[in-house]
Amino acid sequence: MYLKNLRLYQYKNFPEASLEFLPGANCLVGLNGVGKTNTLDAIHYLCLTKSAFNPIDQHQIQHGTHGFFIKGEFDREEKLLEVSCVVELGKKKIITVNGSPYQKMGEHIGLLPLVLIAPGDDSLIRDGSDERRRFFDSLLSQIDNHYFKTIVQYNQLLKNRNELLKRFHEKGKVDDLLISPFDRQLINLSKIIYHRRSSFMDTFAPTLEANYQLLSAQKEHVEIHYKSDVEDPGFSGQFVKNLSKDILLKRTTIGVHKDDFKLMINGYPLKKFGSQGQQKSFLIGLKLAQFEVFKEEKGFKPLLLLDDIFDKLDDERIAALMKLVAKGDFGQLFITDARPERSEKIMESLQIAAKFIELG
Ligand SMILES: Nc1ncnc2c1ncn2[C@@H]1O[C@H](COP(=O)(O)OP(=O)(O)OP(=O)(O)O)[C@@H](O)[C@H]1O
Ligand SMILES: [Mg+2]
Repeated sequence: MYLKNLRLYQYKNFPEASLEFLPGANCLVGLNGVGKTNTLDAIHYLCLTKSAFNPIDQHQIQHGTHGFFIKGEFDREEKLLEVSCVVELGKKKIITVNGSPYQKMGEHIGLLPLVLIAPGDDSLIRDGSDERRRFFDSLLSQIDNHYFKTIVQYNQLLKNRNELLKRFHEKGKVDDLLISPFDRQLINLSKIIYHRRSSFMDTFAPTLEANYQLLSAQKEHVEIHYKSDVEDPGFSGQFVKNLSKDILLKRTTIGVHKDDFKLMINGYPLKKFGSQGQQKSFLIGLKLAQFEVFKEEKGFKPLLLLDDIFDKLDDERIAALMKLVAKGDFGQLFITDARPERSEKIMESLQIAAKFIELG
């Protein structure tokens, strides 16, 4: 699968732009602030219906204007798909494929898989468990529509249960008959979600570890451990046991919305003991494992977007990364770099015929 071209209109810093891409490697170069990351984000919109960096669509509208428009032509297994996204102030976002709009945005997810590696990804390591759950939920949702629907259903039930807890808190009274159906359903869905996440990790973790080994030239080893309340044999009983605490806190304190994925380097927590380069290598290993999962599941290669990937990596790791990229038989690749000579050198040394697109 690859993106042939991209048209932008009043999208962030672009009043209007038209770009053509190669099915292979494309390097977006130019000074800070010229719109390299914005271009990647526009591609993200077409594939995943939203920005990778800012959840508010209106913020992507060019200052002083009332709406933006993004259009791109994809070749997906030899079928041409023209995807467009229109956002106007005060109106609902519209995504169309070959002219047909979606009723639900979720229906588009999974059609055009994409893997983005960006500097802000370190929140996956630095921040709380919700960032990591979001990452794995998004990944699993793109390959498993049933999982996506289960997560949506779980979150809705959780919201309703929390509303009920608030009501109990305000009234100072508990109604077991009202809460127990929520508990039952949340327990059932927690088990389903747990099993899917858990079986997914059985194959994902070794892929991540192998990628990291290559990036670090076997110098370090990393692990990822999935932890869930569901593993506790008394899990189902905890909902009733925790009820008074939940009412006091006005939120549900047990369930798969509390799961975590522990990231380790040489046996220690990555967040505390990993250097910046090691953390970045971990993220790259993680994202390239995501790439491999998509490739396997979809039967074709997703787009790979590398934003400022070379920063913080030493030359050895850059060389290992690019070898991994080249070896993995990557499909379409987008790389941004504020220092074109660096990317030119890297592409040349790997004999990758890349198209250089100078922005600004
Ligand atoms: N809604 C908007 N309207 C107009 N301009 C915007 C909007 N949102 C962001 N910008 C502009 O986009 C530019 C940033 O673009 P982008 O992040 O793509 O830069 P970049 O080329 O990736 O730079 P760097 O090399 O620093 O990463 C900034 O100048 C910013 O002011
Ligand atoms: Mg940038």
